[in-house]
Amino acid sequence: MCGIIGVVGSAGALETVLEGLRRLEYRGYDSAGVAFQDHGDLWSRRAAEGTRSVEALVETCGDAPATLTVGIGHTRWATHGNPTEINAHPHLDCGKRLGLIHNGIIENHAELKAALEALGHGFRSGTDTEVMVHLLEDELRTDGDLVAATRRMLGHLRGAFAVAVVSADHPDQLVAARRVSPLIVGMSDGVSYLGSDIPALMGKVDRVFAIEEDHVVDLRPGSIVVTNAEGQVVSPQSVEITWTSEVAEKGGYADFMTKEIHEQPEAIAATLASRIDATGSIQLDDMDFDEEDLRQIDKVVIVGCGSSYHAGLVGKFAIERWAGLPTEVDIASEFRYRDAKFGPSTLVIGVSQSGETIDTLEAIKQARKGGSTVIAISNIVGASMTREADGAMYTRAGLEVSVASTKTVLAQVIALELLALRLAELRGTRSAEEIEQIVRELHSLPAFVAGLVGATKRVEEVAAGISSARDYFFLGRHLGYPVALEGALKLKEISYLRAEGYPAGELKHGPIALIEPGVVVVAVVLSGPMAEKMYSNIAEVKARGATVVVVAEASDQVVESVADYVLRIPDVADFAAPVLAMVPLQQLAYAIAKSRGIDVDRPRNLAKTVTVE
Ligand code: F6R
Repeated sequence: MCGIIGVVGSAGALETVLEGLRRLEYRGYDSAGVAFQDHGDLWSRRAAEGTRSVEALVETCGDAPATLTVGIGHTRWATHGNPTEINAHPHLDCGKRLGLIHNGIIENHAELKAALEALGHGFRSGTDTEVMVHLLEDELRTDGDLVAATRRMLGHLRGAFAVAVVSADHPDQLVAARRVSPLIVGMSDGVSYLGSDIPALMGKVDRVFAIEEDHVVDLRPGSIVVTNAEGQVVSPQSVEITWTSEVAEKGGYADFMTKEIHEQPEAIAATLASRIDATGSIQLDDMDFDEEDLRQIDKVVIVGCGSSYHAGLVGKFAIERWAGLPTEVDIASEFRYRDAKFGPSTLVIGVSQSGETIDTLEAIKQARKGGSTVIAISNIVGASMTREADGAMYTRAGLEVSVASTKTVLAQVIALELLALRLAELRGTRSAEEIEQIVRELHSLPAFVAGLVGATKRVEEVAAGISSARDYFFLGRHLGYPVALEGALKLKEISYLRAEGYPAGELKHGPIALIEPGVVVVAVVLSGPMAEKMYSNIAEVKARGATVVVVAEASDQVVESVADYVLRIPDVADFAAPVLAMVPLQQLAYAIAKSRGIDVDRPRNLAKTVTVE
């Protein structure tokens, strides 16, 4: 979490940093701050006003000197220390000659702080970050070389970090480094830039370089030099930025979430585009391994967090059904710490919109170390996971800004189903005709999703009918179960209401005790053998006084007689239905959140990219 940006050598450096921070707000908005070189001193401003921190920072920068050309900026998602101005980055050393920003967690901060205090350093904040700036202050005493001092400072640290430093005593220079947390740099027209991720630098450079772990970057006007832990100069990998800065604007929609819900047809279509080559074979993206490796697979493990985990649950059905491979899906933060057995016959798929979520990233690193083939499904070209994996598959959903995932989840389901088809093709478990038929069915989805996103009236009526409730259960079975989990997650994260997703069959094993008048049950009923069982479960909750909303397919004749409210989706093949059923649940969560006056793009306590454990 936390967004960082730095600029060296531009007359409009402050504007560039503030503009970057606006685009990085989705990484955290507990506070924001900047520090710039100013004629041999540091000029620094910070603000901590919750979701309007960046706006407040911009206001406090109104008196900035016009001559600032070298500086750094930060948006914070608080881990250690309350979201107050005193804990806002940049943090300064005792002599106020250094300003430092950080994304990540310094795990040994307590012992470092004690040692630094014993040496006479005074701490101002309650953050883990501040130890770094004092360590650097000490290390600079050795030789005054900012790059070498930063490298020595890294040697003291345990944990995850992307860190950037500005110094009053090192004109026209910024220094940055990373371990685990991502860091990119780029240059254009003699100006050098650093950032936590692509949105920071969008519109400024058309190519970025991803920095490797424990490497240190020296940025000056017109020059970027990267050195490894031994101090040798290295060449980082570069990635082209294909997004324009317009994609980071709302484009006439009330908020990013609405925009991104409306972009879903395009996200699905782009993820499906050109996936069948001239020979009729499924095309994945950058696969740096022999296809023979995939043929040898006898087990698949999908790992992810939050919505990406839910997409993985849908993917499991496709892989088991089409490729005949036993498939486990695990929450990445749990998977990392169990004694999972890896080996060359296990395929591990990491699913992540950002490609940076720390638990998923570390899980796939672990799997690769254990000898498994690893594929990352990500929305960000060149993200850390895609570099750690043997192969990457991209969801091509375009930049997603709103904290709640929408279009990327739908695209992840499509990507996993395409991957399942590729495995089926390689293993000969589905014929070319069957695969073609399934892909045809997937291609029908953008039009159906367009129909759903364009029709919000019914969802708004339902939202108005149920939004006074405090407790919501989302129930589903089979392919409807991940949809229920996703619906509950969307509602809780943007409306702050208690919402539990449950497999409907589990209801009787405990949760039914909570069903009483005033509780809302949202049931996902997809056609097929599970529909009747879902209706039995719906009867059970109705009998106990729950208000029932059902997401049902167009041909469902039963639903009107059992539900208080119905949200219809078109009839499609069962594997395609989760993509459609997620849409009204996104809209329902949105409508309820809006009725509660919540800023849907920036829900409290959340950040879009979770780079701390
Ligand atoms: C929910 C949401 C989160 C993310 C989760 C994983 O709307 O967005 O649950 O799905 O933080 O993030 P990625 O996909 O970037 O690994």
